[in-house]
Amino acid sequence: MDWSLLNFARSGLAVLLSLLLILYWYIRIPNDMPQNIPTVPIYISIMGLWSDMGQDDIYDKWLRPKLEKYGAVKIWFAGRWNVLATRPRLLVDMFRHEDVYAKAGSQKKIPWSVIASLVGDNIINAHGENWKLYTSIMKPGLQRRITDSGPLLLKSRRFVDVLIEEQGGLDSGGVLVNPIIQRWALSCMGINFMNVDLECLEKPGQRLEQLQTIIKKTLFKPLFFNFPDLDRYPTLFPQRATAFSIMQEFGDLLVETVKQRIQTTDADGEQVVDGLDKALATNEITTEQYRANLKVTFLTAHENAQQLLNSAIWVLGSNTTIQDKLREEVLSLSTSNPTTDQLNSLPYLYAVILELLRLYPPVSQLINRVTTSSAVLGGEVPIPNHTWVGWNAYGVHTDPNVWGSDARTFRPERWGGDVKGIHGAVRSKTVQCHFIAFNSHSRKCLGQGFAVLQMKVCLFEMARRLVWVVDPDYELKLTSGGIMAPLGLRAIMTERVEVKEGNWQGEDK
Ligand code: HEM
Repeated sequence: MDWSLLNFARSGLAVLLSLLLILYWYIRIPNDMPQNIPTVPIYISIMGLWSDMGQDDIYDKWLRPKLEKYGAVKIWFAGRWNVLATRPRLLVDMFRHEDVYAKAGSQKKIPWSVIASLVGDNIINAHGENWKLYTSIMKPGLQRRITDSGPLLLKSRRFVDVLIEEQGGLDSGGVLVNPIIQRWALSCMGINFMNVDLECLEKPGQRLEQLQTIIKKTLFKPLFFNFPDLDRYPTLFPQRATAFSIMQEFGDLLVETVKQRIQTTDADGEQVVDGLDKALATNEITTEQYRANLKVTFLTAHENAQQLLNSAIWVLGSNTTIQDKLREEVLSLSTSNPTTDQLNSLPYLYAVILELLRLYPPVSQLINRVTTSSAVLGGEVPIPNHTWVGWNAYGVHTDPNVWGSDARTFRPERWGGDVKGIHGAVRSKTVQCHFIAFNSHSRKCLGQGFAVLQMKVCLFEMARRLVWVVDPDYELKLTSGGIMAPLGLRAIMTERVEVKEGNWQGEDK
């Protein structure tokens, strides 16, 4: 008998058993998690490691049956078990009681991680006194009334120019739209919140723009997204060390850019960056808080609109009847320079945007609240103290129990036929948590007015000057996690003859 070999095998077995025990301890469902809701098996959450299924398909196959029956499930996300809900009754309770279901983003959940180093403690993920402080500083800039749609119109005009130029340079097929949309979204964000014209459409390939593409790829890497504990070991995973330095570079470059900014001509000094500058100068906030809030404004104010516009090009480019109806309404204004009020008077344009937000909610799922005591969600689901809870907007918006048997059909008319009626529908559906694209109650989106206006301006300009169809070779695939949108969309852009030849009944092109 070779004793040394036997001993070696024994030690190997012991190590293996210990590892299995640690793994079991790490991924086991705590006993006090609610027993009256089902569990989504852990392999569904980590599927991104071996599959590139879209989040709509994943939802349909593994989450929808359970969530439509029980209203909530236990699910693995970001290295722990959480409660995810879609039943509006449960969500009203969650969103109305921020004291019990307190906002707690990555800075609380996984403070050592790459994502936490990117976002820090900011207006979206903070709770209590910090949130009140950030809101008092930033809300005026976030909700600044935009009476002049001119600057946004100029950016959308340039965006359409670039689409036409790119199409002209292709022998066949459609334009890859996402990179151009990103440049549009960054430009609109810059002039409205950072008081700086980043000129991303005019000067492509700037470092700040490049970093966005890198950051988005880095954040949603399935292995680190699901097991953020690995971010503790950047020496073992050198790509995470790179990720940390990319996040640092982005923060530094952004601060430098806004410091160097030449004020845009129409700037009124009341943008988010101006509020943050004043608060930093008077020591109301620390440098760290300044950076975190600047970065989150930069990211939120471009990324969601970017992905919503991708979805818009997909939906309207694969359903030309809707595109034609929208064009008819837009042309009825008989101007190429509509005022904000004129754009706000168009019901179909508004309803199309709402329907896009319903079926393609950019923020499709978030698990960023933690219970501050034991609680019974909606009087139904007992949740222990210090448990992370969240919601899935795609699930709520496509649930036939909430939106009827045609819940999954794109039908803008469901929102109503006149602007006043549509406003009323948005209000009541948001309060009831039937529509949560911008969340609801105390922590709802502070940029939604701007986001909707920005979309109105861009869709106005696109419908007025272009006819587009989705490239017949393109097959729809949605992102597998994170912000929801079509991936790699290509669309064939044709300039409308009337505009091209100057036969436009309104003012100049
Ligand atoms: C289509 C575009 C947009 C969508 C779909 C969207 C969606 C959302 C959602 C779902 C939330 C809640 C997040 C949570 O529960 O943690 C939120 C919060 C927020 N959004 Fe937006 N957003 C959009 C555009 C914007 C823009 C342009 C800004 C401007 C900077 C903005 C600023 C904020 C802020 C500051 C909050 C936090 C509010 C608070 O907690 O008090 N959003 N947004």
